[in-house]
Amino acid sequence: MLEKIKETIDFLKSRGFNSPDAGIILGTGLGGLTEKITNSIEIDYRDIPNFPVSTVKGHEGKLIYGDFGKKKIVAMKGRFHYYEGYGSEQITFPVRVLKYLGIKCLFLSNAAGGLNPDFEIGDIMIITDHINLLPNPLIGQNDDRIGPRFPDMGEAYDSYLINKALMIAQNHGIKVHRGVYLATTGPTFETPAEYRHFRIIGADAVGMSTTPEVITARHMGLPCFAVSIITDLGVEGKIKYTTHETVIQEAAKTEERMTKLMTDLIASL
Ligand code: HPA
Repeated sequence: MLEKIKETIDFLKSRGFNSPDAGIILGTGLGGLTEKITNSIEIDYRDIPNFPVSTVKGHEGKLIYGDFGKKKIVAMKGRFHYYEGYGSEQITFPVRVLKYLGIKCLFLSNAAGGLNPDFEIGDIMIITDHINLLPNPLIGQNDDRIGPRFPDMGEAYDSYLINKALMIAQNHGIKVHRGVYLATTGPTFETPAEYRHFRIIGADAVGMSTTPEVITARHMGLPCFAVSIITDLGVEGKIKYTTHETVIQEAAKTEERMTKLMTDLIASL
């Protein structure tokens, strides 16, 4: 895998992707943050050696490098999901590439269903921990040059970044929750019984992404910060008919607040 990573980073460096400070993976309907990147270089995933291509509407499939405030970032506009049929190695390959390009932290966002009865549609949840019900992306042969066989997951989400984000949210008057994100394969949204089940086993929100990338990042020692945008509710009495379109619509309404939070957080690094 290291050879493939090297081939990809050589290509990206030749296109000007030099020493980024941070990486961002943007979730469904949340790609607008990339408009704040200046002096940007954009490359379609299909033009990047060894990159998979995103198949989901609302996930454009572009890698964008540039200035974000005073920092250099690389943003993934569009990510890869297990339900698209990709293997774990494909889903997580871009995270490996970002790490070897030199990022110091990984930021992620996703759209999720709220399970905590205190949540409302449009709320932001800072992820403090996760329950991974997707296949673990580290299953298979381990390359000890990249990370350990048995990585610790005691602090999958960086507590320093979480505390910083809480302060920033307070300063801007942005309401945020903290909570546990559960990742499931999808592509179906949950039955009411499944929502109840996920709540009982300790989750505050459910979605179909993020944990493979975070596990991969932690395997390489990369600190992670992630937020969920609550686009629908899996709470008894509040469950409504959900479609991909309603998820995109609700995520878009929260995008501005999420972007503000991420912008200040990255600036504070
Ligand atoms: N379940 C799973 N994934 C999701 C949901 C949901 O309710 N909303 C947005 N992504």
